[in-house]
Amino acid sequence: MFWRLFTSTGDIDRYHHGQEPWALVTGGSDGIGKGLCEVLAARGFNILIHGRSKPKLLSVLQELKTSNPNRQFEIVVADATDISLVDRVADAGAQRNLTVLVNNAGYTEMDIRLFADISHAGSFVEIDKSISIGVGWISHLTRALLPQLLKNEPSLVINIGSGALSHPPPFLALYTATKGYTLALTQCLRAEMKLQNSFTSNPAVEVQYHELHAVCSNSNREPPTLLRPSSHDMATAIVDAVGRKKLFVVPYWTHEVSAWVMWFMPERIVALLIAWAFGAKMESELQKQKQKAE
Ligand SMILES: NC(=O)c1ccc[n+]([C@@H]2O[C@H](COP(=O)([O-])OP(=O)(O)OC[C@H]3O[C@@H](n4cnc5c(N)ncnc54)[C@H](OP(=O)(O)O)[C@@H]3O)[C@@H](O)[C@H]2O)c1
Repeated sequence: MFWRLFTSTGDIDRYHHGQEPWALVTGGSDGIGKGLCEVLAARGFNILIHGRSKPKLLSVLQELKTSNPNRQFEIVVADATDISLVDRVADAGAQRNLTVLVNNAGYTEMDIRLFADISHAGSFVEIDKSISIGVGWISHLTRALLPQLLKNEPSLVINIGSGALSHPPPFLALYTATKGYTLALTQCLRAEMKLQNSFTSNPAVEVQYHELHAVCSNSNREPPTLLRPSSHDMATAIVDAVGRKKLFVVPYWTHEVSAWVMWFMPERIVALLIAWAFGAKMESELQKQKQKAE
């Protein structure tokens, strides 16, 4: 918590070097990803915005160009459920002086439901989709861009995680499991990067896992509160927390406070509270689906 007093919010500048440095943000057409594009552009980076909807990406592109006339922006359209499209995004990154990769796109369209309630037919869609976005996409893209990030050192990889992993909730098994993979990938990659520098100085590629709790976004359409910041405020906290230089970061201050509170609470109470919150959400979604069907 007290690291905030001593960490420089300007540490992102370390990765702003060479001719026209670029940042690639996956899932940059909405929510936290869009916020990250805004914040990184304001901190001087040109931005490669990845998403799957061309009209949405074009609209974000126009918005960003208007608010940052001195920056360059490009879009790259690719659905992360189709792993064969990874090369399209990697090639777009390879053509630029890429120094920052934010793996933000996640399996955010999951249904809130019990694992046992996923139907046999539905499981082929849900399980495959979650693994493609949350495991395949991040692995293939990071692997494809790593040689370039190493060449352009110092560079940065931020993998976006979730508080669901620290306090696993019912009803979100597939989503949460992909975040477990993301954390393990971050840990191993970070160790490899440190090994390359014999653990002596700053690694060529700084790799971090950022744990997020509730944030207002397209996938979480509740109004902002103290515990649920806007996507833009969340993105600012993520970029500012890079200077922490840690594997595991909880960037937003109220999330970190609630994380500490939950770590000290009995596991049973935390599970009950989360089950109650998600159960209510699941009920309201089922209700909406029923009304739509009628
Ligand atoms: N919001 C929260 O409360 C919260 C909490 C913890 C962690 N997180 C994490 O934060 C990250 C961003 O979440 P968010 O809430 O900002 O999500 P969001 O508002 O739903 O935005 C998701 C972004 O990813 C893109 N995307 C989704 N599926 C895609 C696919 N198959 N192929 C390509 N792009 C795809 C979306 O594109 P479209 O514009 O086409 O939909 C959009 O740009 C995720 O990793 C999520 O797990 C969020």
